[in-house]
Amino acid sequence: MTSSTEQSKDQGSGLPLDMIIFGGMGDLAMRKLLPALYMAFLHGNLPGSTRILSTGRQDIDRAAYLKHVEEHSRDFIAKDNFNDKTWDGFLQLLQYVKLDVQAAPRFDTLEAASRQGAQRVFYLSTAPSLFTTICDKLAATGLVDENARVVLEKPLGTDLASAIEINEDVGRYFAESQIYRIDHYLGKETVQNLMVLRFGNSILEPLWRAPNISSVQITVAEEVGVGSRAGFYDGAGAMRDMVQNHLLQLLCIVAMEPPTSLNADAVRDEKLKVLRSLRRMGLADIARDTVRGQYIRGVSGNQEVPGYHEEKNVPPESHTETFVALRAFIDTWRWSKVPFYLRTGKRMRSRSSKIVIEFANPPFPLFHQNAGAVANRLVIELQPEEAIKLQLMAKQPGSGMETQQVSLNLDLQSAMPQRRAEAYERLLIDVVRGRLTHFMRRDELEAAWQWADPIIEGWQTLAEKPHPYAAGSWGPAESFALLARDGYSWVE
Ligand code: BG6
Repeated sequence: MTSSTEQSKDQGSGLPLDMIIFGGMGDLAMRKLLPALYMAFLHGNLPGSTRILSTGRQDIDRAAYLKHVEEHSRDFIAKDNFNDKTWDGFLQLLQYVKLDVQAAPRFDTLEAASRQGAQRVFYLSTAPSLFTTICDKLAATGLVDENARVVLEKPLGTDLASAIEINEDVGRYFAESQIYRIDHYLGKETVQNLMVLRFGNSILEPLWRAPNISSVQITVAEEVGVGSRAGFYDGAGAMRDMVQNHLLQLLCIVAMEPPTSLNADAVRDEKLKVLRSLRRMGLADIARDTVRGQYIRGVSGNQEVPGYHEEKNVPPESHTETFVALRAFIDTWRWSKVPFYLRTGKRMRSRSSKIVIEFANPPFPLFHQNAGAVANRLVIELQPEEAIKLQLMAKQPGSGMETQQVSLNLDLQSAMPQRRAEAYERLLIDVVRGRLTHFMRRDELEAAWQWADPIIEGWQTLAEKPHPYAAGSWGPAESFALLARDGYSWVE
């Protein structure tokens, strides 16, 4: 078995690193990638000879680029991690390469900037419609060799067909072992800890199955609205933006069988089995087991906020969902008949991502149980709290034998106060070191689309508008009804 020490050892190539960011002026580069690279640099996790080549269409020089970075990226580094000297050192690594991906027949400017013999990591932080052109031209310019790696930012396609196309195109030049499909949820500390919770503790495993577990809830709630991203978001919706990737990845970790090692393929094989066992939904299932919502004006954090239709660049007639709740089943021996309730939405009451494992009630009701009381739940808080709570029944003090729910709370932040690296920082270090475990393999991505596509198509066929919900609420009433029908309720 691959031990954790083996996992964490540096599998870097020993070559100088050229980190090449396509979309180097973009929002993701400014908000996430450069701050993550700064943090990796601060902690000595980048090879000594690293260079970061940011490409962009804008006709600016290096000084102007650095100024842009100062103005748009620096503020995304937490104050206590900021250090002028390190920042200056970090800026030394940065170069700007002017490159119009569509217009340039070859990437000569990039070729001139990138070092011979360097390990090239291409980070494609652009619209996926540019992935093919970028890869074609990288190859035509002779920049792809066996040491090169390519990082693909989501969304990877809008459906199965487009995902296959991207995979085929990228796969013409890069072997699967050179392709890093990012799902930043897999880089989150708490999500990685989920694997340890399940497979590093033997007490859970015998219980981790039907009929001991009666249901599973996975919620990823966001307080923010669509912000300035309507141009992208309105064509995607919550299903493509969140469920098809982040929520399904969480579901995989909850539901997978123990892998035989932490080796990338061993882990991804098990996740793939879960995705392939997800029950496909027909129209009747979609109508019954899924809920789409769209936020309307409401109050969030004591402030009145606009509805989705009032956001910039949202077409007035848009039926795009900003909320999804659904009931899914995994047709395996372990999970037979256990409903998995998934829920995600923008402009919800608060930012809260959690997994709730609800255990079966005792087979014989010895004690009087208050209506609606659930004997045991394991609540795994992923963000912003990092906690594991085990809900148990206890006797209420007094002469009777009344029971009451109590909770064993493990606050992971107090138990382990060490710094948490941001997801992008951890994943970028993984790319540099050649660790693929926390990235999606091609077949995983395609299996996820295979399940999601019929649902999205079904919604089109049913042609129902999404249910309105007030910004600052927990979503439309229909989402509560979905669980109530089975005798459950969302754990807020
Ligand atoms: C991204 C989605 O993948 O994840 C965004 O495109 C969403 O719409 C974001 O806001 C949520 O990530 P996090 O890390 O803030 O939970």
